[in-house]
Amino acid sequence: MNYRLAAGDRKWAESIFEKLNAKLKAECSRLGDIIPYIPRDGHYHDLDTSEGIYWWTNGFWPGILWQMYHATKDETYRKTAETIEKRLDKALESWEGLHHDVGFMWLHSAVANYRLTGSLDSRRRGLHAANLLAGRYNPAGKFIRAWNGDRTGWIIIDCLMNIPLLYWASAEINDPRFSYIAQNHADTALGALVRPDGSCNHIAVLSPETGECLETPGGQGCAPGSSWSRGQSWAVYGFALSFRYTRQQKYLDAAKRIAHYVTANCARNNWISVVDFRAPPEPVKYDSTAAMISACGLLEIASCVDESEKMFYHESAGNLLKAGEKAFADWDIQTDGIIGRGTGSYHGGPEDTEVPIIYGDYFFVEAVLRLLGKDFLIW
Ligand code: GLY
Repeated sequence: MNYRLAAGDRKWAESIFEKLNAKLKAECSRLGDIIPYIPRDGHYHDLDTSEGIYWWTNGFWPGILWQMYHATKDETYRKTAETIEKRLDKALESWEGLHHDVGFMWLHSAVANYRLTGSLDSRRRGLHAANLLAGRYNPAGKFIRAWNGDRTGWIIIDCLMNIPLLYWASAEINDPRFSYIAQNHADTALGALVRPDGSCNHIAVLSPETGECLETPGGQGCAPGSSWSRGQSWAVYGFALSFRYTRQQKYLDAAKRIAHYVTANCARNNWISVVDFRAPPEPVKYDSTAAMISACGLLEIASCVDESEKMFYHESAGNLLKAGEKAFADWDIQTDGIIGRGTGSYHGGPEDTEVPIIYGDYFFVEAVLRLLGKDFLIW
């Protein structure tokens, strides 16, 4: 029996796809070459963060555009994505302001372009970004260091989503070096960041000389020992992707363990995600982006397991998507941003608390297209 999509869910996904196409086309013609992040007063502004062209989310808009181009073959999506990709060259050339997030930035722009059109300039950009990511590897501690400055021993859960750039590069140039780094990093993350009950630390501070774990700060979650929901989502999807590329069962087992923890926590809240599953009951703060990412991770797991297990992951993903859309979607084509109530971090200010954020929209688009079998693997 194929649990890919129940009849009611297909109808829902098809109607959402029509709405996505209408809204994203309107955004596309309004935005031109703007690189969006969070709409202010209903509208995006170009590179609206202090990190400008280096900001980690700058690949998600081209990612949306490539997914929609793949699904519709509408040339407007392709042309806009190519324009943004060229704008990102400034960051690749000067590179000093880049962090570990080059996977998010170039998998969704250049590598997506290369995969769909065969552009050799795009392939070169993707390989350049992979080399920058590999250059952050600490061989003594076996991890890719997060951020810059004096955070020499920091490893974070988010980076699991950047290492598919390394798996891609290894396959592309037929050289396992990049993949070894990715796997070593995933192993270190599994040991230092994932707790036995399926909850995760956002950050571990390791000794850069030995890899010994020194501290686990709260990071973007509420406090040390708490459970930042988006970090949980990165872990669900990130380990599932490491399984896809390596076929190592430990990664799928980790993804499933974390997924069960996430679904239990979301189910008890009507499938809406709070920012931190272990925050005090008040104030309630939502993060819709965590739910959208988890939905994609659950669908990835569903694609890896036997038929007897698929239904759980499919249904859970569908529940997250439908609840998030019902509660938070803005389908007005005059305003920017689709899925509202996303939150950057538990202790952040009002500017990134419970607002539409570009990556929430990216993962919503990817998940809906996955349900319809219209997506392509951008990771
Ligand atoms: N830096 C990734 C995140 O905020 O989830």
